[in-house]
Amino acid sequence: MVLIRIPKIWEIPEREVTDEDVFLNRRRFVKTLIGAGIGATILPVLGCESKTKSKINPAAGTEDLSSVQRNPKFDKVDRTLTDESLASTYNNFYEFGGTKGIWENAQALPTEDWKVEVKGLVKNPRTYDLDDLQKKFPVEERIYRFRCVEAWAMVVPWIGFPMKQLIADVEPASAAKFVRFTSFYDPKITPGPLHFGELPWPYTEGLRIEEMANDLAFFATGIYGHTLPKQHGAPIRMVTPWKYGFKGAKSIVKIEFLDKQPATFWNSLIPSEYDFEANVNPTKPHPRWSQATERMVGPGPALTWEKRPTLPYNGYGDYVASLYT
Ligand code: MTE
Repeated sequence: MVLIRIPKIWEIPEREVTDEDVFLNRRRFVKTLIGAGIGATILPVLGCESKTKSKINPAAGTEDLSSVQRNPKFDKVDRTLTDESLASTYNNFYEFGGTKGIWENAQALPTEDWKVEVKGLVKNPRTYDLDDLQKKFPVEERIYRFRCVEAWAMVVPWIGFPMKQLIADVEPASAAKFVRFTSFYDPKITPGPLHFGELPWPYTEGLRIEEMANDLAFFATGIYGHTLPKQHGAPIRMVTPWKYGFKGAKSIVKIEFLDKQPATFWNSLIPSEYDFEANVNPTKPHPRWSQATERMVGPGPALTWEKRPTLPYNGYGDYVASLYT
């Protein structure tokens, strides 16, 4: 008799399964971790992902930035731009839920009177409001590839400014070696995917200071010719296109220059799956799936999306490979 072994859901590469299964996959894995002694409470699945979709425009409430000039150095890539209607409704923003369809929940993010505090090992600690950011840092448009660790990919026209301009403004001390970026968090507004158990909020990410100073490292304040919609991380988020998407913390409220590598959200939770460096690397599989190929986010089920080979450093080796030799 031939025994056919049906793989468990967490054994299937994330790109091969539907959105809901991706969600279940991560959820079960985190549950396993919790069961193995992380000590968090498993709360019941609550309704934040099961709301019926409304007809609200996912880019509603954004301001026009269509006159912003595209930087000719980053004016195209060898792939078609992802349709905005797809990019703005297929998001990861765990503060608002554990599925890709969080864009409606994310509209609760309060972006008025936003402030970004920059502190730590710098000569000029500052707290910028949105006006300050606008006045200090002229924006440009850049088309970047975007590669999620889950093996889906997009091509996105970001608007924003290079991170190195902020470095120049705050003047880090020579002892500053790392930078930690912290996202907005208020449990009353950002309940998180409660069924995951306790998570190390707020969402934080980090870079080496040389990575932050690289030409590619970008703070996005806009996308598709307008300010960032909330689900993309309004009003300001990180974009580091040679790294997996989870490095790009959204809705940043604090930036700290540090002498030591900081703990970060996914790396603290599951270090074997999400390393601090997280450079896109087709030859280094994720423990649960290959990273050799990716699917370009498109209409219909994920299995039908165009499959492309993943490029080392997501195609940006000329800019960043020297950082890692
Ligand atoms: N930032 C915060 N604060 N919370 C998150 O859950 N998810 C990350 C990253 N930044 C995340 C975040 C992940 S896993 C990805 S792939 C990208 O955001 C997704 O960005 P997008 O939804 O704008 O495409």
